[in-house]
Amino acid sequence: MTECTNRTLLKEKIRLNELGGGESRIKRQHDQGKYTARERIEKLVDPGSFIEFDKFVTHRCNDFGMSENKFLGDGVITGIGKINGKQVALFSQDFTCWGGALGAAFAKKICKVMDFALNNRIPVIGINDSGGARIQEGVDSLAGYAEIFYRNVKCSGVIPQISLVMGPCAGGAVYSPAMTDFIFMVDQTSYMFVTGPEVIKTVTHEEVTKEELGGAKTHNEKSGVAHFMCSDEDDCFERTRELLSFLPSSNFTKVNRENTQDNVERSNNKLKDFIPSNSKKPYDMKELILEIVDNKHFLEVQAGFAKNILCGFSKMGGDSIGIIANQPNNLAGVLDIDSSMKAARFIRFCDAFEIPILTLVDVPGFLPGTVQEFGGIIKHGSKLLYAFSEATVPMITLITRKAYGGAYDVMASKHIRSDINLAYPNAEIAVMGAEGAVKIIFRNELKGLDGDAFEVKKAELIKDYEDKFNNPYKAAELGYLDEIIFPEDTRKKIIQYLRSLENKKVYRPKRKHGNIQL
Ligand code: HXC
Repeated sequence: MTECTNRTLLKEKIRLNELGGGESRIKRQHDQGKYTARERIEKLVDPGSFIEFDKFVTHRCNDFGMSENKFLGDGVITGIGKINGKQVALFSQDFTCWGGALGAAFAKKICKVMDFALNNRIPVIGINDSGGARIQEGVDSLAGYAEIFYRNVKCSGVIPQISLVMGPCAGGAVYSPAMTDFIFMVDQTSYMFVTGPEVIKTVTHEEVTKEELGGAKTHNEKSGVAHFMCSDEDDCFERTRELLSFLPSSNFTKVNRENTQDNVERSNNKLKDFIPSNSKKPYDMKELILEIVDNKHFLEVQAGFAKNILCGFSKMGGDSIGIIANQPNNLAGVLDIDSSMKAARFIRFCDAFEIPILTLVDVPGFLPGTVQEFGGIIKHGSKLLYAFSEATVPMITLITRKAYGGAYDVMASKHIRSDINLAYPNAEIAVMGAEGAVKIIFRNELKGLDGDAFEVKKAELIKDYEDKFNNPYKAAELGYLDEIIFPEDTRKKIIQYLRSLENKKVYRPKRKHGNIQL
């Protein structure tokens, strides 16, 4: 072949690869409000940075007329690119080729790019839009899935793994995104379920639509499977880039300190009287977070699920930080099954990737009731305790108001090895609320009284109890708090402490792995 025909052949093959399943299927994809697999990558990465691997791979299946039915690239685009200037590995399932269905060659391409990401310690991003196992390939496609699942586990805690669900993701295929660190879903065009509406109707006689069963809203608000709900695909790319700006490339590297225009000594005058003096009155903890972090930027994770706890990323003094905070505006910030699991998983992510943790505490305790007890609050609540206790990243805890009972211990107390424990002067740290405590301790004294005498005595005992315990000074006296701070100094203090902890190293006894209460 001449050089000219060599070049022509390569160009023709590239053209065919880029055509995917063809014009009519691309039009169908666009008509559904979806970008193609290739457009998605181009929109996500820094312009011109994408390099594609395995453009000319095809399947080797000869059954069901498949030998005549091939697409160059086999229905998945894989490669490397940059996001915010940092290298990432990507795969994007192409719905225009057999509905993005996964066969052996397709799976091999994904495995190759995952191995590349792991060996080179860079995040891997998977864009999912697929009809599941390629039916024509039978067990070979199931084997392909399992190879991917295995790699998801191998990469876990080593490189960040991010899934963008932008179409169907059903059956066992859901378990790959499920094992990644963060799942983004697009409202109205993505869905995830293990068994679809038809199977459910046959087996349980329930009638449910695809959207109700596994749409973005369902997984962001009810099941807690997803972490980010996006209004459309562009929103999804923007937020993926935002998330990556807080993350290191792997557990081998730290996120570089960013130059911040936000003064590290800035005082927060708004916080002087921010916490209501009536301890039963709610307030929005998110407002407090926005007040103290750099440029009021807080990327909330699982914003629609277990709203009684807030989890998310910010920068403070230019450094990435993971924030966990009780939300008094929702269920008074109580801990329950969902909030414990949500926060535990977030803490373990931060710990795995060396992102320091700031915990803001205003917690009245664990939610009482049979629903919680029968649902296993003992097991699930202990996940949060376990996650905080095993974390070795720098940890700073600030009690903004209540820290009651077991929840005081669980929420990154000094005793489970938070490095710096702070409180506002109005903090209340006690085994339980004053009224409940008085009813138990002084039951006999109060028994003989009635009417006004009862009320007066009870009020007196409550005041005594509050004076003694509902303040931070007993804990400070015992060294369980390192400092009681003025609220307006919050940002300055946290950044000072954060910087003092930047070389923290803690070694734990050697073991294969712990046994978290799954
Ligand atoms: C091969 C498939 C396919 C599949 C879709 N196609 N799913 N080809 N294997 N699993 C093809 C279609 O034949 C069609 O080809 C093209 O993709 C687009 O599909 P449509 O049905 O026209 O699209 P749409 O109406 O949007 O419906 C999408 C869909 C539906 C909901 C995903 O295609 C569907 O239900 N597919 C089957 C899903 C399924 O049962 N998968 C196996 C699940 S079991 P043409 O040539 O017309 O473009 C599984 C196990 C995984 O996945 C286990 C892992 C452990």
